[in-house]
Amino acid sequence: MTKPRVLSGIQPTGELHLGNYLGAIRNWVNIQEQYDSFLFMADLHAITVPHDPSQLAQNTAKVAAMYLACGIDLNHATIFVQSHVAAHPELAWLFMCITPLNWLDDMVQFKEKAIKQGEQVGAGLLTYPVLQAADIMLYEPDKVPVGEDQKQHLELTRDIVNSFNHRFGKPKHPILKLPEPMIQAEGARVMSLTDGTKKMSKSDPSDLSRINLLDPPDLIRTKIKKCKTDPVKGLVFGDRDRPECNNLLTLYLLLSGKTKEAVASECAEMGWGQFKPLLTEAAIAHLQPIQEKYHTIMNEPGYLDTVLRQGKEKAEAIANQTLLKVKTAMGYSLP
Ligand code: TRP
Repeated sequence: MTKPRVLSGIQPTGELHLGNYLGAIRNWVNIQEQYDSFLFMADLHAITVPHDPSQLAQNTAKVAAMYLACGIDLNHATIFVQSHVAAHPELAWLFMCITPLNWLDDMVQFKEKAIKQGEQVGAGLLTYPVLQAADIMLYEPDKVPVGEDQKQHLELTRDIVNSFNHRFGKPKHPILKLPEPMIQAEGARVMSLTDGTKKMSKSDPSDLSRINLLDPPDLIRTKIKKCKTDPVKGLVFGDRDRPECNNLLTLYLLLSGKTKEAVASECAEMGWGQFKPLLTEAAIAHLQPIQEKYHTIMNEPGYLDTVLRQGKEKAEAIANQTLLKVKTAMGYSLP
């Protein structure tokens, strides 16, 4: 029996942090045995904001190494680079031509990023979610495990697929299979250490707002020492007026591997001075084996190149078939 398929990706911009790990990668690891996983580095998405060409390839390789270091297993998963599979931008173009413009300027992530950019907004920032729809549909996955912030892009993908099927397929015989988002409950939104109402993000100007997966123990200590808390004693989950408290407790829950009940009762009477060292040690202990494995992978000459070449071949075989199906449905002849 063939396993259901999942597909997901992360943009190789800046360092990966706990938000990427707890909100996405960790979930991929947890489900990888039940699914045939396709995981990629979205390096075509990475150029939708100004980028440094001297860093792009290196950043892409680092993300691939981090997937493996976090526990992605090549027996279950295919890891590949988006720009290595030319079907991605090609399908994106075909989808762009059937996507109404007003669907795109509704996208929250576009609006947020466009505001940050000011004058210099490239057209690619607007059409970004269409490329994402192409990324997904080339593999026709059953599920797309992403963080909460990507839900809107998944909905757009489904709208594009419905519209495509409606225009080019026959009723009751859809050409492309509708994908489902898979959003995990806990840790889907890891918040900033300096503002519990904002998502932990690579683009936050302050490095103190996030814990990067490669941060050394001393830096983790400093960041947690300086993170924002509140003046209330007794730490609880889910109090809307205490976003920092909920975020830090959730981080502790996920990093320590304890149950929610155990954390809730352990921390019910605690003050921050008592809690912060616990969280710090849990973070350091959790990240240490990941960092070791990361360095081993990066130091092994040729290893990543081989992984990514094999990934490209496997991905391309599937992607090209889907592209052909789509082009045929739209009326193109084969060369
Ligand atoms: N937009 C996603 C993010 O910022 C990355 C991404 C690009 C993606 N293409 C995708 C995620 C396809 C899932 C599926 O996190």
